[in-house]
Amino acid sequence: MAESMLSCRGLGVRFGGVVALDNVDFDVAEGSITAVIGPNGAGKTTLFNAFTGLVPPSGGAVHFNGSAIDVLPPYKRANAGMVRTFQNLEIFTNMSVLDNVLAGCHRTIGYNFLDALLKTPRYMKQEREHEEHARRILEFVGYDGPLDRPAGDLPFGGQRALELARAIAARPRLILLDEPAAGLNMRETKNLGKLIARMRDELHLTIALVEHDMDLVMSVSDRIMVLSFGKVLAEGTPAEIQQDERVIAAYLGEDDLSDQEREEADA
Ligand SMILES: Nc1ncnc2c1ncn2[C@@H]1O[C@H](COP(=O)(O)OP(=O)(O)OP(=O)(O)O)[C@@H](O)[C@H]1O
Ligand SMILES: [Mg+2]
Repeated sequence: MAESMLSCRGLGVRFGGVVALDNVDFDVAEGSITAVIGPNGAGKTTLFNAFTGLVPPSGGAVHFNGSAIDVLPPYKRANAGMVRTFQNLEIFTNMSVLDNVLAGCHRTIGYNFLDALLKTPRYMKQEREHEEHARRILEFVGYDGPLDRPAGDLPFGGQRALELARAIAARPRLILLDEPAAGLNMRETKNLGKLIARMRDELHLTIALVEHDMDLVMSVSDRIMVLSFGKVLAEGTPAEIQQDERVIAAYLGEDDLSDQEREEADA
C-alpha cells in the first residue's frame, strides 16, 4: 500500500461533556481518494477540524507528510500542503470569480510588501503568473464565464466549483472536502465525482472527503472509513463497506432493506 500522506492514531476530541472523537485511527494513503462517512453528528467535520488545527485534540497524534503536525497552527498546516473546503460553502460573494481563486494563491506568493507597493517587475511578474494559474484552474473545474463576475452571482453549483478552484490554487498536496456535494443536483454531483477523480489523476492530489451522497462515495473512493458516535465503525474498500454487517445495521441499513424486511423490522 502507498505511504500515508495523512494519519492519526488514538485521536480524541471533546467538547465539554461531548466526546466527538474517541480513539480514532485513520489513514489517507498518498494518491488516494479516501472517504469518511457516518450519520449526522458522528464526528466527521470534527475529524477534519482536528486535522486542519481548528479544534484542539484531547489526545492522540496527527502526522502529515511524515511529520507530527499536532503543534502547528492552521496556517502552517496549509503552508505544509493541507487545504480544505467547508461544509457550509465559504466563498467571498462580493469578490470576483478571479479574485476568489487568487485568494487561494496567497501561500505561494513570493514578493514582499515593498515589491507590491512599488509594483516592481518581480511583483508584476508574479501577479501575471498567479492570474494565469487561476485562469487554468477555473478552466479545470469547468468554469467558462467572465472572470470579473461577482462570485455571489454564480448559481450554487458554480459557487461550489469556485470553492474547489480556490483550494486547488493553493497548490496543496492534500485536499480535505467536507460534503462537496451538499446542495448539488444529481447531474452536478455526477460531474463533481468526475472532477474529484481528475484532481487526483491529473493534478496528483491526495483527497479526503466527507460525504453523505453514497453514489458519489462508492464510485469515487479507494477506501472508506465509517464513523459512528465518534468511533471508527469500519474501514475498507467500497465493496467491503457495502457488505459490512455493522455498517448496514448502523447506517446504510434502511435504504437497503427490502419492503418485506422493513415490515419484519417494524413488526
Ligand atoms: N464547536 C463545537 N462545540 C460543541 N460541540 C460540538 C462542536 N462541534 C461539533 N460538536 C459536537 O460534536 C459532535 C460531532 O459533530 P460533527 O460536526 O463533527 O459531526 P458530523 O459527523 O460532521 O455531522 P454532519 O453529518 O451533520 O455534518 C456532535 O455531537 C456535535 O454537536
Ligand atoms: Mg459535518
